[in-house]
Amino acid sequence: MTPTPPPTPPPRRPSAPGPHVHHPLFARFYARVSVSADAHGGLGALRAELLSGLTGRVVEIGAGNGLNFAHYPTTVTEVVAFEPEPHLRRLAEEAARRAPVPVTVLPGTAEALPAETGSFDAAVASLVLCTVRNVPQALSELRRVLRPEGELRFFEHGAADSPALARLQRALDRTVWPLLFGGCHTSRTPLSAITSAGFTLLSHRSFNLPEQGPRLPSSPCVLGTARR
Ligand SMILES: C[S@@+](CC[C@H](N)C(=O)[O-])C[C@H]1O[C@@H](n2cnc3c(N)ncnc32)[C@H](O)[C@@H]1O
Repeated sequence: MTPTPPPTPPPRRPSAPGPHVHHPLFARFYARVSVSADAHGGLGALRAELLSGLTGRVVEIGAGNGLNFAHYPTTVTEVVAFEPEPHLRRLAEEAARRAPVPVTVLPGTAEALPAETGSFDAAVASLVLCTVRNVPQALSELRRVLRPEGELRFFEHGAADSPALARLQRALDRTVWPLLFGGCHTSRTPLSAITSAGFTLLSHRSFNLPEQGPRLPSSPCVLGTARR
């Protein structure tokens, strides 16, 4: 009798290549400051809040050095984390080995996810919509790979309410900020981008980071959940 051949894995969606991401200096800077901000600046607790209650298969975009991984609840069966920057991706691979849930780290940009349509229960974007080149395209990709009713968890910084800080943010975004911080922008509007992409907002809260002290251009933050 001829043995049955193993099942062929489902094809991945052939996607156009996303933008090339190479920020070696910023990657090394971020790898240092993000670890300290997690431990001493309250970011660790925010990451735990962001991921609390997630279940099933999760896709994470722009995973950086993988600081979210330690906070995934064990109800998550698998995380597929995309990170386009080579240095940060190597650090994310190390973090994945220490994670409480299975995490696979892959190269890839949010604008062109090499993943099947409808294949994830939830998606995570933390501190990344400020940096992707094309926010609508990135969110449209997240919608595509989420199953119907799948959740988007987001933790992002964005435009300030105060006119003076908002003006400063726009000026910085046109000049030095993206050059200094790996393509980051401070004046984007993540909530309206998420709803414009067709997600339904379920809950969110806005706050400043750090909560005390001077407001930085990247201080105004929003953390929440939206549904596909
Ligand atoms: C400020 S870091 C945040 C990293 C991580 N999400 C976190 O919460 O610490 C921004 C990340 O976005 C990544 N990135 C830049 N362009 C991207 C793109 N087009 N698609 C996905 N990720 C991108 C960067 O390499 C970097 O890891």
